This record gives sequence, structure tokens and C-alpha cells, in this order.
Amino acid sequence: MLDYGKIKTWEVKDNVISISFEKQKMIVTVLTDEIINVFVPIWSEDHRSKAIEEEDMERVLSKGYTLNAESITTPDGNALQISTNNLKAIITDGGYVDFYTMDGYPVSRQFRGERVPIKTLGIWEMELLKAEGHTVADTVLNKPVSDTRVIERDEPIYGLGDKMGLLDKRSYEYENWNTDDPSAHNEQYRSLYKSIPFIICKKSKYAYGLFYDNTFHSYFDIAKENREYVAYSADDGNLDLYFIGGGKIKNVIGNYTLLTGRTPLPQLWTLGYHQCRWGYSSAKDITEVAEKFRELDIPCESVQYDIDYMDGYRVFTWNEKDYGPKGELFDKLYKKGFKPVVIIDPGTKREEGYFMYEEGTKNGFFFRNAEDTEDYVNEVWPGEANYPDFGRSEVRKWWGKHINDLTDMGVAAIWNDMNEPASFRGPLPEDVVGYDEDRRTTHRELHNVYGHFMGKATYEAMKEHTKKRPLVITRACYSGSQKYCAVWTGDNQSLWSHLQGMIPQLCTLGMCGFAVNGVDIGGFGADTTPELLCRWIEAACFSTFFRNHSANGCTRQEPWLFGDEVVDIYRKYVKLHYRFLPYIYDLLHEEQENGLPVMRPLVLHYENDPVTFNLNDEFLVGEKVLVAPVVNPGETMRKVYLPEGTWYSYNTGEKYEGSKYILEEAPLDHMPIYIKAGSVIPFYDEMSYVGEKNFNKINLLVTPEGGNCIHYQDGGEDLSYLNGNYNLYRFTVGPNGALSTELLNKAETVAEYKEFAVISLKKIV
Ligand code: GLC
Repeated sequence: MLDYGKIKTWEVKDNVISISFEKQKMIVTVLTDEIINVFVPIWSEDHRSKAIEEEDMERVLSKGYTLNAESITTPDGNALQISTNNLKAIITDGGYVDFYTMDGYPVSRQFRGERVPIKTLGIWEMELLKAEGHTVADTVLNKPVSDTRVIERDEPIYGLGDKMGLLDKRSYEYENWNTDDPSAHNEQYRSLYKSIPFIICKKSKYAYGLFYDNTFHSYFDIAKENREYVAYSADDGNLDLYFIGGGKIKNVIGNYTLLTGRTPLPQLWTLGYHQCRWGYSSAKDITEVAEKFRELDIPCESVQYDIDYMDGYRVFTWNEKDYGPKGELFDKLYKKGFKPVVIIDPGTKREEGYFMYEEGTKNGFFFRNAEDTEDYVNEVWPGEANYPDFGRSEVRKWWGKHINDLTDMGVAAIWNDMNEPASFRGPLPEDVVGYDEDRRTTHRELHNVYGHFMGKATYEAMKEHTKKRPLVITRACYSGSQKYCAVWTGDNQSLWSHLQGMIPQLCTLGMCGFAVNGVDIGGFGADTTPELLCRWIEAACFSTFFRNHSANGCTRQEPWLFGDEVVDIYRKYVKLHYRFLPYIYDLLHEEQENGLPVMRPLVLHYENDPVTFNLNDEFLVGEKVLVAPVVNPGETMRKVYLPEGTWYSYNTGEKYEGSKYILEEAPLDHMPIYIKAGSVIPFYDEMSYVGEKNFNKINLLVTPEGGNCIHYQDGGEDLSYLNGNYNLYRFTVGPNGALSTELLNKAETVAEYKEFAVISLKKIV
């Protein structure tokens, strides 16, 4: 716990208040009426943020926030009060910072007492655990950086990115240290591949967020050791807290993504279905799988290329022996509508004569050992490997140049893997040397942003070179990576618990700004079953990264290997996904403005309804669609909670009044879906892949009372939408089904729809 002493003096410059305590400095910056930064320079005088880049800060500051003369007062004794139009921060002796609403409601106060960790283990066990290198409760105390905040006894807490477990993270503890652990991830896992030190606290009267921007190894105890508080601590770095107000969860997400950036609009085809397997090891394998999708009439955009396409796992090479001459397979499959998506790992094989090794070594682009005497070596797929030092722009540019070689060859999207970074000879030591641009530092600081920088390198190169919207899928990342990357949740397994875990995990990633996200459908490791695969394609049907992927050595996961019933169910839900594509795309367009994801927990829109606070087995798609998949084996009836309002079953057209549970039959081929009364949902006709047909026609799925919607349409690939090259429609449908269309924005080069069809929900029964 830092010792601050008493407040001595303070100085105000624009919206920055620099406070000198007897023993410590604190800088409070008011960024907007709802975003306040508290910075304690424990380790460096400047922020060194990787989540909030210059352009992000300019965007926030362009809102032109200025504190006025009455903003800073000293209400009582030595306390300093900073007021915005919506919030007050009160700073007192001892370095305590408390946040209140303007009418004095305490939103977030610092905990004044001592943390008392739970000691469920005896001294002997604790010592043994420590000796084995594990973190035990008392070693989390006395970290150089810490902040412990009071919460209400039943205040739900969301966030932290890809962490396993439930939506509400209360009663669990977590760590941010990007980790590739191949065993079955379960709810007590403390760290996975991503570090997102952001939580959303849903206090009864005011939801708010806490973002601790620090890339060093950090720890969150979410009311586990004590129901009274949430405790954050870190091994090093600064206390760099962004207090994010908003009052409602959606405003908090909006503010957090205003600060750290939003997921850019993807190319339309990337939202379609993808097939993958680590084990499609030749052109023949890929072609056969691709053709089978067309033959069975299951839509598909890509059969992805896992590590085998490389020559001996050397990044940026091509295995001609098994995959034929460079570019040939791509051309052949492009003709059938398949776009090539290839994996890239950072680990670069150490081998004389290999161009990546030669270039990287000659230019000093790899991490160095602690003594800085030679390049650091560990092992990954290609054997002994070096790790590019992505924190430097020259290294990112070098990497990007090779990414451009891939896109020149026809590659349409990149899948970044093993970028925690993974290492087969034990973890990279924390004292491995790398750089943050020209500042020498160590892996201790860089570890959690390794995947972030690799994603940035890839995204920027692709955007600049192809002039299209890049799809970069990543396994590891940090807060703010959503500006560059879509995410998938790594190596899950074919387990019912992992299907169940998908819902809170993807909802949470979305609440942390990652609007394009997905899991390996069917499960990556272990062996799937026909029932599990069916339930998984149903539950994942609204994913923004929609891919079946499995591991070498496990049961293959193409639907046709499980018989006709599975194929029919699989086809039905992949087709349903494509029918809903324009709705999903509309939501991603809106996300540019509001930061809200496509897949949302119910609590995001029904935050006064306690039933939704920790509802883990159903979700919303936008505001208008509610999905309640079956995620238990053998179950054919589904208990569904419908929140307040009127809902219609998508499948039967039946009308329900909400705020109650209903029971719906859900045999294997049926996933309950509900549409909110008053909705108009844009809907495509069937297609085998994006680009197969012209988008001349749009269907509008309407509930009986009619309603309206704003619908967005663009060319689906390039960046001209940023300059207004898109059509924006307002569709209004009366209760009698009469449609009126208004064009709110007209594109220069995107043809408008020629045909509009109203589909009444009742009629599609
Ligand atoms: C990692 C990835 C997985 C991939 C495999 C081989 O385990 O998470 O998706 O298939 O490496 O490249």
C-alpha cells in the first residue's frame, strides 16, 4: 500500500490537476464529464499507454472538455473536490480518491482498511505452493501498485475480457498475464490469452467502470476475499486508473470504447461461416472440404490454412510439396467463392539462409537475452525460434512488408496465433530485453501487449496495402486491440461446459469492446459428438466470427461425418446466420457510434431486472432478438426468461408477455429465438457465400404491430464508406404490412435495392 501522506499543494492547468502529497504525486485529468483519470507515477512520469493511443486521446479531447473556475473546491478541511457536470471526485489525505454523483450518491469509494486474504491453506501448504512457483493469496498483497474499492454487497461485476466463468465475476479472482494453457479451461482459471484490466460495476443506482491501464502482470480479487471490496494490484507500472461513469452499462461501454477505440466495420464476407482444422494438410484436403460444403449446400466463406501450409512452419513461406505452386490453390478456390485465410505465428525459425531469420538477425529485430549479448531463443512449432520485438515501429513495418507479400499472393485475412507469446521451453523470462519504440525495457512490461503489437503491425500493413478493411484474428491481446483485431477464444475443448461458457465469455468480450468475436465451434481439443456439434452450431449461430475448428489428433468436425440429421441441422443454422447477416452488419455499423457489441447479455438492456444480472444461458442480438440455445446434453425443453415487453417466437409466431419464464420445446433441430414486438429486421435471401449474388433485394422481417428500423448498406469491402459511400434507409412498416422507405444517405457507387419484401413473422411459421 502506497504511503501518500497529507495533501500539500495542488496546481490546475486546463483540465489537469497535479496534486502533491507529502510523499507522493497524483495527477487527476478530467477527460469528459464521465471519464476521469487518476495517475500516480510510481514507475514513470508519463502514461505510456498502449490501449489509448494518440489518436484515441485526441478523439476524446476533441470533445473539448474544460474545467470551469468553480470546478475545484475544498469543501471540508484538506479535501479537494473536482466536479464535472455529472460527477464529483473527492481526494483526501492518504491519497484516497472517491467518486460521487452530483447529488452525493457514493459511486466508488476507496477501501480504507487492510486487505485480509482468505487463508484456506495451512502454512505448510502455502510454503509448498510458493516453492512450486504458484501465486498464493498473501503474495498478492504488498504489490507496488494497488487500488481497493468498496462495492455494494450484491453489486454485479462484469468485464475482464476472455476470462472463463460466469458473466458476474463476483467471488472469483483473476490475473492478467497472457497465457497459453492447453488444458481444459474451467471457471477457476485465473488467466487466459488476453489481458483486459477493465471491469464494469453495476451499482444499484449507477453503473460505472474501472480501467486500470497497466501492462504489467496484474491481479483482480472480485469480492472473493471480502464481499465489501474489489481489489486490484500489479507487480509494477503506475496506478493509471480511468474512472468511467455513465450510470447505465451501455453508457459505460460507450465511454470505455470512446477511450480505447472501437472495432472497425469488417468486410461483409468475414462475418460469414468459416471452416478450419489443424490437420487439413494438403491442397487436396482443403479442396475436398471446400467442395463438400458447396455440394451439401452449406454456406461457407473460407477453409482456413493452419500451420501446415508453411514450409516447415517457417513463417511467410509456402509448402509447395503439399499445397502446390504458390497462389494456384487460392485462385482455384476463389472461383468457387472461398477466400484464403492463413495463420501466422510470431516465432521465427533460427536457420541460416532462411530470409526471415537473416533479415531479423541482421537488423536486430528480435528480443535479446537479459544480458543483451544475443538474440533470445525459445522453441515453438518450427523448433528453435526468435521472437520479433513488435514494440518498435521498424519491426512492425518489417513484419507488415511480409504480410503484404501474403496479400499480394491473394491472402484475404490473417489469423495471428501463439502471440502471448507461446513458448515450448518454459515461459519467456521477465528480463528478456525488448523495446517500446526506442525505450529499452523488458518482457515484464511487454508480455501482455505482445499480441496487441503483432495485431497492430498486421492490421496497419493490410489496410494501407490492400485499401480494404482488414480481418486480423488474434488469440492474445490487450485493451484497445479491438481497433486492430477480431478475437477468438483459443483452444477450447469439445465439452458441454465449454459450450455453456461460450455465452458469458463472448458477451464479456463484447462488453470490453471486442465486437467481432467467436469460439471454435464444436470445440478445438477433445472429441465432439453429434449432439454437441448440433447444439454448438445453433448457439454460435449469431457469432461475428463464426468458425468450426478442431485440433490434429481429435475427431474431425465437418458436419457430414456425423450423418444426415447433423448435416440438415448444421445447414439450417448456417443458413439462418446468413439470413440475419444484414441485421448483424447494421449492429456493427451502429457499434461505430455507440461501442455496443452484437451479442449482448440481457443485463445490458434490462439492468433493473435482477433476473438478468447473472443470466448465463441466453443472450440478446442487438436489442431486438433474444436467443436461448440448449446447452445441456439430452435436453429437449428449454426454460427461457423473457424480459419485460412483448416478444414473438421466431419459430412459431406465438406472442408472449415478458418479465417471466416460459417453457419451449427444443428438440435437437430447434433453438428458441424471440423477436421483440415492434421490430423490423433486415433479412437476406439464402446464399452459398457473400458475393455469390447481387444484393438487389432486402427482406424485412416484421412483428404483427409493424415498426421501423434504420438499415445500412455499403460495398462490403473497401474503406469508401468512411467518406459517405453508403446507403442508409429508414424502413417503416405499418400493422397492415405497408412499407415506406426513406433514403437517408445515398452512396456514390453502391446500387440501392431494387426489391423489398415484407415478411410477417406469422407467415414464416
Ligand atoms: C494453437 C491454436 C490453434 C491452432 C494450433 C496449430 O493451438 O490455438 O487454433 O490450430 O495452434 O496452429
